[in-house]
Amino acid sequence: MNRVCTILGIEKPIIQGPMAWTSTAPLVAAVSNAGGLGVLGVGFAPIGFVLEQVKATRALTQKPFAINVIMDPASGILDKIVTVVKEEKVPVVYADTLIGLDYALSKKYFDIWHELGARVIVKASDIRDAVTAEKAGADIVIVKGWEGGGHVTVESTMVLVPQAADVLEKTPLVAAGGIADGRGMAAVMAMGAEGIEMGTVFLAAAETPVHPNVKTAVLACGDMQTVITGTATGEPCRQIANALSEEILRIEAEYVRKEAAERLRPVAESSLKKAMAEGDTEHGAVMAGQIAPLVNSIRPVADIMNTVIAECRAVMAGMSRLQLD
Ligand SMILES: Cc1cc2nc3c(=O)[nH]c(=O)nc-3n(C[C@H](O)[C@H](O)[C@H](O)COP(=O)(O)O)c2cc1C
Repeated sequence: MNRVCTILGIEKPIIQGPMAWTSTAPLVAAVSNAGGLGVLGVGFAPIGFVLEQVKATRALTQKPFAINVIMDPASGILDKIVTVVKEEKVPVVYADTLIGLDYALSKKYFDIWHELGARVIVKASDIRDAVTAEKAGADIVIVKGWEGGGHVTVESTMVLVPQAADVLEKTPLVAAGGIADGRGMAAVMAMGAEGIEMGTVFLAAAETPVHPNVKTAVLACGDMQTVITGTATGEPCRQIANALSEEILRIEAEYVRKEAAERLRPVAESSLKKAMAEGDTEHGAVMAGQIAPLVNSIRPVADIMNTVIAECRAVMAGMSRLQLD
C-alpha cells in the first residue's frame, strides 16, 4: 500500500496544491471525491472565510481534505487554525513556507494539530526545511521545484526530489512543480517520491471556480510564456506573462529593492483576485507553472486524476523494457 494514501486515508497519491482565490470548496471536494487530497487555499484568508470553506467542503464530500496555513507566527492565524481544526475536526493541516521553517514553532503547532487528530503536511522549497519538517513531526513532506505556479525559489523539482529522498529518514516524500501527467508522476516516483502534488493542471479543471478567462489563458500558454516576478523584492512568483508581469519586471529592473517594493505594492495589490475572480488576465496575476503547455483541454477532475494514474502505471511498466546497453 502506498504510504501517502495510508497516512492521509486517500485512494490515489495525488494532492491538489492549495491555490489562493482558486482552490475553494468545489475544486477541493472534487479532488477528494476522486480519491486524492483536496486542499483549501486559504493561507491568506480571514478566519471567517476559512470556516465557511471548511463547512462548504464538508457539504460536498465525506472524504479527507486539508486546509493550508502559512507558518507565520506574526499573523496570529496559527492559533485561530487550532480552533478551526478542533471545532470542525479538519482531517489534514497543510503548512506552507517559502523558506525558513522554524523548528520550535512547527513542533509546537504540529503537536497540537496531531493531538486534535489531524495529519500534518509540510510543503518545503529547500532541503533544510524538508529536514526541519520531518524533525518537527510532519506526516508528509512535499518539496516544490521552481517549475511550479505561484511562489517559488530557485531549485528545480529534478534536483530537489532525489536530495530530499536521501535525507528524509522515515517521512514519505511528495513532489510538486512541473507535473501534469503520468510521465511526470513516474519520473518523480523513480527519484524517490511516493506521491505528487499538482496545481496548474487543476486550474483548468471543469470544477475549478475561477473566471473562464483564466482557463483560456492556461490553455493558450506555451513554453517560455511564464515568468518569475518579485525576485527583486524577495517574493518570487511564477505566473503567465502579461501586461502586469511586464510592469512588475520593468519596476524591478529600474529600481533598487526598497523603492521597487514600494512601487510594486499598488501594482501587485489584489492582483491574484483580479485574475482569478474578475477574469482580468492582462492586469491580474495568472499564477501558473511551466507545465501549462501540457494542459490542453478543460476536463473533469476525476478524468484528470484517473488519466495521470493510468499513464503512470503504463510508464512504470514500460521502464523495464528500456535498454541500457
Ligand atoms: C493560481 C495558483 C495559486 C497558488 N497559491 C498557493 C498558495 O496560496 N499557497 C501555496 O502553498 N501554494 C500555492 N500555489 C502553489 C501550488 O499549491 C502548487 O504547489 C503548485 O501549483 C505545484 O506546481 P505546478 O503548478 O507545476 O503543478 C499556487 C499555485 C497556483 C497555480
